[in-house]
Amino acid sequence: MKAEFTVLDSAEAVATEAAHEIAAVLAGGPRTLVLAGGTTPRRCYEVLAELPVMWGRVTVLFGDERCVPPDHVDSNYRMAREALLDRVAPATVHRMPAELGPDEGAALYTPVVASLAPLDVVVLGIGEDGHTASLFPGHAAVHAKGWAIGIGDSPKPPPERVTLTLPALRGARHVIILATGAGKADAVAKAKRGEVPSGMIAGARWLIDREAAGTR
Ligand code: 6PG
Repeated sequence: MKAEFTVLDSAEAVATEAAHEIAAVLAGGPRTLVLAGGTTPRRCYEVLAELPVMWGRVTVLFGDERCVPPDHVDSNYRMAREALLDRVAPATVHRMPAELGPDEGAALYTPVVASLAPLDVVVLGIGEDGHTASLFPGHAAVHAKGWAIGIGDSPKPPPERVTLTLPALRGARHVIILATGAGKADAVAKAKRGEVPSGMIAGARWLIDREAAGTR
């Protein structure tokens, strides 16, 4: 199955469409929802928090985390908490314990993901270099097997992170990748050619704005 690219008018339209598509998947019964970090996903979470979702049936996980304490300003968990999790009441939230370090964090998260896979809906952002989650172009972690892996040399700070692996992301039932702004246009073009990690998830649904599509 090839990745599908949908171009919307604005970043706000991307956030709104993504939130509604996530809510539609969550309406189907008990579901797992995997959250990303980054500014693009944040707006989607704010919209999702306002939608009618039976949060008591939702188990939340994370696609990646920076190795900082969970209340740190760089923490993906903190961002998700502020934008979504403090406003709704999911049945369970499995944050990545990345503050323990990349290796222990990944080791502790692996059985969590294994016990819940296949994951139902995974939200991802992309970086200007085409990374997704904390899978960076040319990094050995792109080839990792298993469910989660720690890295110590991320090119985007902070260097230490925990991330789901490509096989874990590829195995999910729905993968929604968000990209907005002209700064992401090169990365989107490379992803379309399968040259960067974000472009290596067959069947992903991309929601992008005109600027990221390079048509404005
Ligand atoms: C991280 C992220 C990362 C992010 C993209 C997009 O922890 O760094 O999970 O994969 O989603 O880099 O981030 P922006 O939307 O802020 O550009």
